[in-house]
Order: sequence, then C-alpha cells, then structure tokens
Amino acid sequence: MSANGTAAPEGPKEFAFEPEYLERAKHIIAKYPPGKQASAVMPLLDLAQRQNDNWLPRVAMDYVADMLEMPRIRVYEVATFYTMYNLKPVGKHFVQVCTTTPCWLRGSDEVVKACERKLGIGLGETTPDGQFTVIEVECLGACVNAPMVQINDDYYEDLDGPSTEKLLDALARGERPVAGPVSGRQTSSPAGGLTSLKTPVPKSNSAQTASSTQGDD
Ligand code: FES
Repeated sequence: MSANGTAAPEGPKEFAFEPEYLERAKHIIAKYPPGKQASAVMPLLDLAQRQNDNWLPRVAMDYVADMLEMPRIRVYEVATFYTMYNLKPVGKHFVQVCTTTPCWLRGSDEVVKACERKLGIGLGETTPDGQFTVIEVECLGACVNAPMVQINDDYYEDLDGPSTEKLLDALARGERPVAGPVSGRQTSSPAGGLTSLKTPVPKSNSAQTASSTQGDD
C-alpha cells in the first residue's frame, strides 16, 4: 500500500539525489539551525519530486526522511497532506485547472471542457501517451487573471475555450508558450486598457520635478 492508503503505483525500487539535487538539498538544509533540519522537509520533497518526473514514490519519501533523520511517518504525513505533491505518476504536462469561484464565474467550465475535448480525457486522468494529466484544483492565487491553469511551473491566465485548446496544441508540438495572460494585457493591468493615469505628465512638470530632485542631492 502507498502512504495514502491506496495501491502503490509502480515506481523506482531505489532513490537517491543526483549530484546536482544533492548539492541543492545540502544548501537548503544549511539554512536551518543544527537539530532543526526537519524544517527542510517540504523543499526536499519538492526536489525529490522534480528529479522523479514530477511525482513522489515511497522510496523517495523514505530517502528524504533518512536524510533529515526524521521518522518516515512524519514525511508521509507532509506528503499526503499537501496537494503539491503527486503520489502517483503524472503526465509530462501536468495541467491544474482552477475551478474556484472567481475562475468559475469567469468561465473555468469552458477551460475544463476544452481540456477534455482536446485531450480526450476527464479530470484526474492521464492521456495514454503519458503527455498530459488534467486535474481540478482550488484557488491558485491568480484570481485577478481568471480563469487560469497551472502547467508544471507556469501560470497561463485570461483563458477561454479556444485559447486553452491553442495552448494545449502548442505544448503537444513540444513548444513552451510564454507564461502569463494570453489576452495580451500586461500582467493584471485593466483588461479594457488604462482606467487612470491616462493623461501624460506635462513636460514643464516633469522638468520641474527633475530639477528639484537634482537640487536635493
Ligand atoms: S479562483 Fe482561480 S486563481 Fe483564484
């Protein structure tokens, strides 16, 4: 059985950090006082997940527990509590669709439908070729650009059905589309253009400001 009580997925029989990951793990552990290395458990689990194709097999949790001299059960508790850890294999492109209220009000249903239509899978499923997994998640903190999805480490925002399909097509072609709002607006600036500070600062005022600033030196 796995740490969360379900049948354990197939995974590696052994796990150890590769040199680059080990270096990063040591750097993280060194941030904590002696005897408090267990505080590094979350970033180390994240590192282990990154090394292992974005999911955490039991052997990786055990490795982290031993490295931090923690009881293994304490590590399982962390890994099974936080949804950022995947306890079974996921697709190369891990699509997390936010369906919490702001995203839902702005059309997340269309985003979900576009994923299902384009990939031929439902929520919580992985395409047979292992390229995509789609899941539903709670608010990812980008409500001002709703609706949005997180794909691996990137946020894609201001989506609708067609732009979601376009995004998935680009990923399927091996591209990595630029993260951020697909609407073209700059970060979370007003969707319909500026609503304030629309008048350029008069030249005389800018010159005056510049000279008074220089005078302060
Ligand atoms: S509700 Fe979707 S990011 Fe907050």
